[in-house]
Amino acid sequence: MSVPTTVLVLASPGQGHVNPLMILSQRLVEYGCNIIFVNTESIHNKVITSMGNQEGGFTEQSRIKLVSIPDGLGPDADRSNLGELLDSIMKSMPAKLEKLIEDLRLKDGVTLSCIVIDVVVAWALEIARKIGIKGVLFYPSSATALALQHSIPKLIEDGIIDSNGLPITQKTFQLSPSFPPMDTTCIWWAKTYPLLHGNEIFNQFVHLMQTVEPPEWWLCNSTPDLEPGALSYTPKLLPIGPLLRSYEDDKERSLGQFWEEDLSCINWLDQQPHASVVYLAFGSSTLFDNKQFAELALGLELANRPFLWVVRQDSDSDSDYNNKVSLPNEFKGNQGKIVKWAPQQKVLSHPAIACFVSHCGWNSTIEGLSNGVPFLCWPYFADQFLNKTYICDALKVGLGFDSDETGLISHEEIKDKVDKVLKDGNIRSRAHVLKEKLLNNLKDGGTSSENLNKFVKWLNE
Ligand code: UDX
Repeated sequence: MSVPTTVLVLASPGQGHVNPLMILSQRLVEYGCNIIFVNTESIHNKVITSMGNQEGGFTEQSRIKLVSIPDGLGPDADRSNLGELLDSIMKSMPAKLEKLIEDLRLKDGVTLSCIVIDVVVAWALEIARKIGIKGVLFYPSSATALALQHSIPKLIEDGIIDSNGLPITQKTFQLSPSFPPMDTTCIWWAKTYPLLHGNEIFNQFVHLMQTVEPPEWWLCNSTPDLEPGALSYTPKLLPIGPLLRSYEDDKERSLGQFWEEDLSCINWLDQQPHASVVYLAFGSSTLFDNKQFAELALGLELANRPFLWVVRQDSDSDSDYNNKVSLPNEFKGNQGKIVKWAPQQKVLSHPAIACFVSHCGWNSTIEGLSNGVPFLCWPYFADQFLNKTYICDALKVGLGFDSDETGLISHEEIKDKVDKVLKDGNIRSRAHVLKEKLLNNLKDGGTSSENLNKFVKWLNE
């Protein structure tokens, strides 16, 4: 009997990074691989806690083994300071990863074939090279975001960004004729404030990417229907999207979540009319100020439709990641349900969902598009502005919000855009056509399915 191929998957500490890598791991298990899934210790603890009493298929016998490495910060350190966290990871984790691999070999008799590495921890490619195993990078955002990263020298030469990676003036540019026009808000590393300063992230991993020797494969959660220009622009990029979870039943929890999913959402959605519910979720790091939060609540009240709203709250109320917000007195919320964390992929595929008010994180974007759900875009940080441009201007399956002169999105604007997107038959039909195209990639003979076959064949060589 042949020995199964064992792959180590190294995630960086972000929900939008762990989720697609976990789905990829589950896909690889279907091909007969064993997975060692490595998180930082603090993320590992969240992932285990979020499973609650239901283990959702994760057992000792499971082919996905969850392990962890300390990130180098003390137990009470503020991990919402991403600059410090990434710095500490870069300094302390390489040696610990090498030790983990050595222990797996000596103590558990596990021989790794490959390391699949989140781009944020691309330094691990050198470790794979050093110990003589395969290493591939996984890019958790869009192929267009990566194309921008690859175009840094050209963007500097064309006077669009300075040597710190920051836009010189606000203007529209096009990377090549196969890309949609973008404005400088799409330079995603410059939009990382307030979680990181633009040049901090630029120095830390955008620049790192230019110094690391390119891997044989770059995997990404995209498809040629979505980003034809970007995929042909970046060599060796292998689209394997859309990365979507498959569930045995409604009670199954999703492995890899940082917060416990509130599964009561699904029962609640079952009671709502077809295509009636506005779903609102802003990913894992968006923070609202109280005034904007109140305006959103009043906008929902005014829209007078059923809504399902995710308001993330940590158990640690002092955490900087916590939304320190409160609902206004006028808010009744009779037509809606508010949860702390939803089983988002199940929610988006529910027939009651009418539209998705989203921060446009790339995973949320892919999940919404794969379910044919029209978007209302509310980007917060990093690549989300670029993703919004794609959704609204290139794919034309969503609308953005306009803010007033103080930067506030008013409750009237929220109500108007909800009405507008729900009445727009063209947006809805484009979203449906795109959904079919995206899902075709996963069928036998589809591009992503063929790419994954190709990748696994290479893994097993
Ligand atoms: C971030 C960036 O925003 C994103 O653009 C980048 O590509 C990766 O890192 P995040 O802000 O967390 O990620 O957003 P997103 O990429 O959308 O990932 C969030 C994940 O959490 C999605 O897979 C979504 O399904 C899941 N989620 C979100 C839930 O399961 N429940 C929720 O209530 C909210």
